[in-house]
Amino acid sequence: MQQTPINMEKTNSASQVMSINTAKRLEGIGEYYFSQKLREIETLNKAGKQIINLGIGSPDLPPHPSVIAQLQSQASLPNTHAYQNYKGCAQLRTAISDWYKKWYGVSVDADTEVLPLIGSKEGIMHICMTYLNEGDIALVPNPGYPTYRSAVKLAGGVCVDYELNETLGWAPNFALLEQQDLTRVKLLFVNYPHMPTGQQASEALFQKIIDFATKHQILVVHDNPYSFILNQQPLSILSIPGAKAVALELNSLSKSHNMAGWRVGVLCGAQERINEVLRFKSNMDSGMFLPVQLAAATALGLDESWYQSINNIYQQRRSKVFELMDLLGCTYASNQVGMFVWGKIPGTFTSGYTLSDAVLYNAQVFITPGGIFGSAGDQYIRISLCGSMEKFEQAIQRIQAAQL
Ligand SMILES: Cc1ncc(COP(=O)(O)O)c(C=O)c1O
Repeated sequence: MQQTPINMEKTNSASQVMSINTAKRLEGIGEYYFSQKLREIETLNKAGKQIINLGIGSPDLPPHPSVIAQLQSQASLPNTHAYQNYKGCAQLRTAISDWYKKWYGVSVDADTEVLPLIGSKEGIMHICMTYLNEGDIALVPNPGYPTYRSAVKLAGGVCVDYELNETLGWAPNFALLEQQDLTRVKLLFVNYPHMPTGQQASEALFQKIIDFATKHQILVVHDNPYSFILNQQPLSILSIPGAKAVALELNSLSKSHNMAGWRVGVLCGAQERINEVLRFKSNMDSGMFLPVQLAAATALGLDESWYQSINNIYQQRRSKVFELMDLLGCTYASNQVGMFVWGKIPGTFTSGYTLSDAVLYNAQVFITPGGIFGSAGDQYIRISLCGSMEKFEQAIQRIQAAQL
């Protein structure tokens, strides 16, 4: 066999890749915590550790069989493979509009007030790119979904945290907000049921948010992907009278219909806002695969029994996760909703990070430290309900055995 010439080996080695400066906008934007952590877990697994991952909120259950059947039948047709309309197909927009009417009691016009998205995460970026100029401020929840912060920064905006705490039921402290200089604030991100704390909003809270935004002429972006998980009364901020004048709502099929990998989300709001965001978005992608859109429309038409079936499973899991929290000495609200359990760590650990590392390295179980959602989450951990009962049982056994 011929040997590889030495100079060819050199050309292919990593050290020969040219160096180039990344754009300034990436400064301060780290790799997403989970992608780093998954790599570490993979390395530990390769070393034979078999880590139980209770971190990530990606539903492990499949979508309804009718949704998969629709995808299969549409994908097998010869005429469903072309580029699609930037605004999504009419069937999906109508299904979204009907879904909003049926479950949230909200009217959104299928032609003008609904914009299907390739997952709601991209919608967060699109909104920031559409509205933020260099130096404009976006208020983001602390703790909160990390993507709000990175999207604001990537768009050139400035993030100002508004702190949420247990004492105020994880609701914004409006009195404190009013004391701030709000002149450069353009966006306010809110998210209820709140991730990571599992706190629900009342109509009264949504009303306060809308009043605050109206008074200060701030665009509210309500992110609503968890309203069907362990929650009997899905609520949309758009149900508040006058909300469309100042608010947009993001929604998603990722959690409600077990379709996280399909990437289907939606933005709802006033026609003016939808058209503005579309001006940006239509330059970024070329629509969503039609069979995925039609299958998503089927999912949105599912009746109550669908939500009951997934929630029965999540309810059992949540009880098990409460047991796990008890074992770790954590305290938690038993009425929290959504796809996670949020617990306050005992005084024996200095932070959620130290607890998470102790559990990872001694019991081979990964639990998310609350600090990744912002400093106000430092004394907390978050456990995902996306795992089988056996997995939780095994995690409990390992943690018991590790005697942390
Ligand atoms: C609060 C929150 N918003 C948005 C998303 C993104 O959802 P999607 O899958 O629709 O992009 C997530 C996903 O974990 C989330 O937790």
